[in-house]
Amino acid sequence: MASLFFFLALVVSLLSSSPIATEAAVKRYKFEIVVKNVSRLCHAKPIVTVNGRFPGPTIYARAGDRVVVNVTNHAQYNISIHWHGLKQFRNGWADGPAYITQCPIQSGSSYVYDFNVTGQRGTLWWHAHILWLRATVHGAIVIMPEEGQSFPFPQPHGEAEIILGA
Ligand SMILES: *[C@@H]1O[C@H](CO)[C@@H](O)[C@H](O)[C@H]1NC(C)=O
Ligand SMILES: *[C@@H]1O[C@H](CO)[C@@H](O)[C@H](O)[C@H]1NC(C)=O
Ligand SMILES: *[C@@H]1O[C@H](CO)[C@@H](O)[C@H](O)[C@H]1NC(C)=O
Ligand SMILES: *[C@@H]1O[C@H](CO)[C@@H](O)[C@H](O)[C@H]1NC(C)=O
Repeated sequence: MASLFFFLALVVSLLSSSPIATEAAVKRYKFEIVVKNVSRLCHAKPIVTVNGRFPGPTIYARAGDRVVVNVTNHAQYNISIHWHGLKQFRNGWADGPAYITQCPIQSGSSYVYDFNVTGQRGTLWWHAHILWLRATVHGAIVIMPEEGQSFPFPQPHGEAEIILGA
């Protein structure tokens, strides 16, 4: 009887400690490529931006997530977006270099980048991959560990994204 109780207790503890299976999420973003006037050193200059922001929006995902980014080009330049450092294991067509994995997205057109974030975590960046447009069309990609997993370092007091542009 004692051994049966022990067995049941073991089963219960195994059940209660089994991690809850977490579904990989789909993270959707909308990137509108628009020209915007900005003032720098007293002069207004038109620059190409994503959603009118410079640097552009940050993409947040967890390892294992699927990321879907609908890019619509309202600028007069053809464009493509490259997810720098992101391993595109079975979605090479979503890598972004113009004339290598895709034709550029022409003015007035959209292209949907659809990729899985596999086996990676950390902070990377995305940028335009055609002509000189990356100078203003860029932003961060933050990949957090899977739900319930921690970073391989103690919890920091705060977080900040730093993007260096030249
Ligand atoms: C930027 O400013 C110029 C000069 O004032 C103007 O002609 C142009 O339409 C503006 N462009 C945008 C996108 O606001
Ligand atoms: C992408 O966004 C554009 C502009 O909002 C829209 O017309 C198009 O239907 C979207 N594409 C998809 C696949 O959702
Ligand atoms: C955009 O791409 C199309 C098709 O390749 C090309 O005909 C057009 O000249 C390009 N536009 C610019 C501004 O480079
Ligand atoms: C992403 O992963 C899911 C699940 O494994 C798979 O069904 C889907 O085809 C993958 N998508 C891409 C774009 O590789």
